Amino acid sequence: MGDCTCRVLRSLILCLLFLLQGANGDNPYRFFTWKVTYGDIYPLGVKQKGILINGQFPGPHIDAITNDNVIISVYNYLKEPFLISWNGIQQRRNSWQDGVYGTNCPILPGRNFTYVMQVKDQIGSYFYFPSVGLQKAAGGFGGIRIWSRPLIPVPFPPPAGDFMVLAGDWFKTDHNRLRLLLDVGHNLPFPDGLLINGRGWNGYTFTVDPGKTYRFRISNVGITTSINFRIQGHKMKLVEVEGSHTLQNTYDALDIHLGQSYSVLVTADQQPQDYYVVVSSRFTPRVLTTTAVLHYSNSRRGVSGPVPAGPPNHVAWSLSQARSIRWNLTASGPRPNPQGSYHYGMIKTSRTIMLANSAPIINGKQRYAVNGVSFVPADTPLKLADHFNIAGVFNLGSMPTSPNSGSGYLQTSVMSTNFREYVEIVFQNWENTVQSWHIDGYSFFVMGMDGGQWTPASRSRYNLRDTVARCTTQVYPKSWTAIYMALDNVGMWNIRSEDWARQYLGQQFYMRVYTNSNSYRDELPIPKNTLLCGRARGRRTRPL
Ligand SMILES: *[C@@H]1O[C@H](CO)[C@@H](O)[C@H](O)[C@H]1NC(C)=O
Ligand SMILES: *[C@@H]1O[C@H](CO)[C@@H](O)[C@H](O)[C@H]1NC(C)=O
Repeated sequence: MGDCTCRVLRSLILCLLFLLQGANGDNPYRFFTWKVTYGDIYPLGVKQKGILINGQFPGPHIDAITNDNVIISVYNYLKEPFLISWNGIQQRRNSWQDGVYGTNCPILPGRNFTYVMQVKDQIGSYFYFPSVGLQKAAGGFGGIRIWSRPLIPVPFPPPAGDFMVLAGDWFKTDHNRLRLLLDVGHNLPFPDGLLINGRGWNGYTFTVDPGKTYRFRISNVGITTSINFRIQGHKMKLVEVEGSHTLQNTYDALDIHLGQSYSVLVTADQQPQDYYVVVSSRFTPRVLTTTAVLHYSNSRRGVSGPVPAGPPNHVAWSLSQARSIRWNLTASGPRPNPQGSYHYGMIKTSRTIMLANSAPIINGKQRYAVNGVSFVPADTPLKLADHFNIAGVFNLGSMPTSPNSGSGYLQTSVMSTNFREYVEIVFQNWENTVQSWHIDGYSFFVMGMDGGQWTPASRSRYNLRDTVARCTTQVYPKSWTAIYMALDNVGMWNIRSEDWARQYLGQQFYMRVYTNSNSYRDELPIPKNTLLCGRARGRRTRPL
C-alpha cells in the first residue's frame, strides 16, 4: 500500500520533480505515504497511547532494492513535533534526510514532510524510528529491508520466507511521562517487559513449513537493554549484520545490543509442533523474558516445556561471540571499499579519536556525556545553521577528540573532520554497563574489542583481514571497542548512544564531514522542501 514504481502519470511527474531535486533518476522510485497518529495499544495487557503509522504498531516495513529512490511523505497527526530517522540507511551525500534534530526541523503537528532518499550501495537489514524526545518508547518504528537486485545472488539460497523481528524492552508509562522523568533528573524505571513485533508473551506467531529454511531479521529497537535471541530446539545460521554478509557460523543464542540488526537462517527441521521464540534481557539486575511462537504448519502440539534459558550472564560469553562474527570474504554483495582498496586493514589512519562515555551530574541533574561534553540541542538544526552560515548556533571543534578529566559541561558539540580522512575511533567505557554506539551516515569496520584501557599496543590484536562493517557497535563494561572509518560521506552526522535515556540526556554529538568542493558529486544541494525553523526560518532553499 502506498508503494508503487514510476508507472502512472502522477508518478512520472513526481519522478521528474525529484530528478530535478537531485535524486538519482536511473533507479526506480518507491513512494510511501505515512499517516502518523496516536492509537490505543495493549502490548503488555494494559491500554497505552501508542504512536501508529498508517494505523499500525509497529509501523509498516519498507522494502526496497539497493539503489532505489525511496520517497516517503510523513503526515504528523500527533499533538507534538515528530521526525523519523533511518537506523543504518547511509543517506549518501544527503544528511538533509537523516531525520535527527541536528539535521532536520521537526514536522509540526498537522504538518507534513517528504523524505527523498536513495538507499545506495547497501543490502541488508535496518529499521526506522522516531527520533524526537522519548517517542521511540511509544512505537513509530518499523523494519527496513534492502534487497539485492534481481539475479544478483546473495551468499545463500533464497529462503522460503523472510521474517522481521523487532524486539526490545518496553515501558507501560507514557513516553512524555518518561521524558519528564529524565527532564527533572531521575533515571528511567526498570522496563516493564519485552516485546516481539509489538506483542507480549506468545503474542506473535511465525508460521513455517516443515523442512524449509527461513530468514529472521532481528533488530533491537528497545530503549535501555541488550537482548538475547534464541529459538527452542533450533540452530541459527548467521548470514548478515547491518549490511555485511558474514561467515555462516551457527549459534544457539545471539546477543543483540541496542540499535543492532542481525539476519539468521533457521531450518524447520524438528518434530512438527510449536516452539518458543525467546527474547531475554542481557546484563540486567533482573532478567526479563518474552516469547513468540514458531508454528510448524503441520504442528500437532502447542508450545511446551520450559522456555530455554539464556546464555551465561557474563561478558566473556558475549565478547567471544562478538569476535566470532566475521566477514565472508568470498561472498558477493556490496563491500565497503575505503580509498579504492578492499584492504581496510592496510590503510594508514590519519588520526585516532578517543571517545569516553560518562554520567556526570551537571547543575544538580543526571546527565550523560562523551569526553565530558553533554550535548544540548540548539534552537536551529546544525546542518541548516552550517548551510546558511548562521553564527552562534554551534562552534566547530566544540567536541574534544580525547577524554578530559573535568567534571562535565553542557555544549552543542560538533566535531570537525575532513572528507576522505581515514580515522580510528576508540570507544573507551570506564563505566560498569554495556554501551551501544551508533554512527549515522556510515558503516565502519569493527577492529577489535577487549577489557580494560585501550593503548596503542591494543592494535596488535586488531582484525585487519575479515571483520564486519556495521553502523552500531557495543562496548562492554570497563572495556574498549575500536573502529576504522573512511570519512567518505560529506554532511552533518549524529554519533550517539543507542541507550535512549543517555542519548536524550546528552550522550551524543555531531560530526561535520567537510569539503570545500561545492560539488553536487560530494554533497547534494539543500532540498527545496526543507523545513525551516529557529534562526533558519524565512531563509531561501531555492536559488534567487
Ligand atoms: C504538506 O505540506 C505542504 C507545505 O509544507 C502544504 O503546502 C500541503 O498542503 C501539505 N499537505 C497536506 C495534505 O497537509
Ligand atoms: C561464504 O559465501 C559463500 C557464497 O558466496 C558460501 O558458499 C560459503 O559457504 C561462505 N563461507 C562461509 C565460511 O560461511
